[in-house]
Amino acid sequence: MCGIVGYIGTCQAAPVLLDGLSKLEYRGYDSAGIAVYDGNKIQMQKAMGRLKVLEEMTQNGATLPGTVGIGHTRWATHGAPSDLNAHPHFNKDHSIVVVHNGIIENYLKLKKKLMSKGYEFLSETDTEVIAHMLDYYYNGDPLATITKVMHRMEGSYALGILFRDHPDEVYAVRKDSPLIVGTSKSGNLIASDVPAVLKYTRDVYFLENEGGYEHFMLKEMHEQPKAVKDTLTPRIKNGDVVIEELGMTDEEIRTISKIFIVACGSAYHTGVTAKYVFEKLARIPVEVDLASEFRYRDPILPENTLVVIVSQSGETADTLAALRLAKEKGVRTLGIVNVVGSSIAREADNVMYTWAGPEIAVATTKAYSTQLIAQYLLAMKFAKVRGTVSQNDFDAMIQSLERLPEQISLLLSHKENVQRFANRYLAAEHVFFIGRGIDYAISMEGSLKLKEISYIHSEAYAAGELKHGTISLIEDGTLVIGVLTQPKLYEKTISNMVECKSRGAYLMGLTTFGNYNIEDTADFTVYIPKTDPHFATSLAVIPLQLLG
Ligand code: BG6
Repeated sequence: MCGIVGYIGTCQAAPVLLDGLSKLEYRGYDSAGIAVYDGNKIQMQKAMGRLKVLEEMTQNGATLPGTVGIGHTRWATHGAPSDLNAHPHFNKDHSIVVVHNGIIENYLKLKKKLMSKGYEFLSETDTEVIAHMLDYYYNGDPLATITKVMHRMEGSYALGILFRDHPDEVYAVRKDSPLIVGTSKSGNLIASDVPAVLKYTRDVYFLENEGGYEHFMLKEMHEQPKAVKDTLTPRIKNGDVVIEELGMTDEEIRTISKIFIVACGSAYHTGVTAKYVFEKLARIPVEVDLASEFRYRDPILPENTLVVIVSQSGETADTLAALRLAKEKGVRTLGIVNVVGSSIAREADNVMYTWAGPEIAVATTKAYSTQLIAQYLLAMKFAKVRGTVSQNDFDAMIQSLERLPEQISLLLSHKENVQRFANRYLAAEHVFFIGRGIDYAISMEGSLKLKEISYIHSEAYAAGELKHGTISLIEDGTLVIGVLTQPKLYEKTISNMVECKSRGAYLMGLTTFGNYNIEDTADFTVYIPKTDPHFATSLAVIPLQLLG
């Protein structure tokens, strides 16, 4: 079994690496090597046989000056024991160097591709493929480059990597091969096993498997269980909904006679869901407006109106202008905002923060999910105060809300299913999303994600409306995605899907576990866990984000 050690700190790296490798000798090895960076040049020394040979060659590390380095003891798997096959391995201009434990199962395929691009190989190892792949994909950003390479490699690996452009960094990543990080005052270490670092530190961290995402949107999608939990948990106290920042007395809540929800893009779509939830639970009429429309149409805002402004950034120009207009008209405003201290947060009468954390991807995912939560809580609070919901139903809804983070995690963990479907349909040119009620709101977001991320034209249609003209666009093989999370509307939407099928559509169904008879109609189905139908958007949106 091979061994890895890496070091970055204030001491000379080579002696630390050699010492660390000696603690891993018990794993067995046939050759060893180290690479050390002095801020100018990455120098390497490798030798077949015992570690002693390497120690002598380098005068116990003295010939390789520098305070950053990686080392390796190799047990041959791909290619015989030899100096050339020993690690580390360089890219072509010696600006990237890598050590590797594990086996890259698809290395021959990758090697062929690299050779066709002009890469020359000095060794017979699978590891050299990694060095050249890093070279091929390098764009100045080591993390993004490593992530890209990881997504192309099959097998197991723990890697230690140095980049000449990044003299103060050692990169470490693992998948199914162990790797630990040790921290100390005089420097930080990586190693394939704890004994290699014990002389320097007892502060040891075990690296998580994999860890990187191909892009921020995917990362943020996976952060949704936490974002939802963080937005929800502080506002549920002893089985009740407590929104201190609302700044409204129960009496004031009771006098509200109309709500406007105003926003752009996905934030607007959360408002479309919230309209159904608010009207059903709190029995208050709700209008949902696109901010870019609201601000120019001189809206009629009766006394006792509450204007809810929803925005991740808190800076979207139309949304901010809509807020200012509502304030000019003298009605109460509430911001639902993610960025603390943003313009909308500062200017709204009151602000309810979503706790999604920074959202880097332009196409929102985790902020969208937290905006939904904030509005569910608001609707439940209003319903409770206004006496439009029974205590039993309220208690059951709290329980459903509290289960959402775990249910979202479950959906994310089954992403391969959606991925396979997406692979089959990536050539689609037109996609229709259909649903009724809340399912229509979900369809709108699913459709936007597909357009925004895949550049595939799609439309969201209220399922019952499709037959009034637009159905003529559905022909053989057109993908139609039916969203059916609302029990009362299930049969209605099924019949709309049947209409599409009779025109040759290929049908994907998105429904709740238990509705298995959908398979009589749909060609492919994704199931979401059972929840209170008011909150189904929070679950059904996950497969649609993944599909996008
Ligand atoms: C769009 C984004 O540009 O802005 C959407 O693509 C987002 O994802 C919309 O929902 C509104 O942004 P914000 O910051 O006001 O929520």
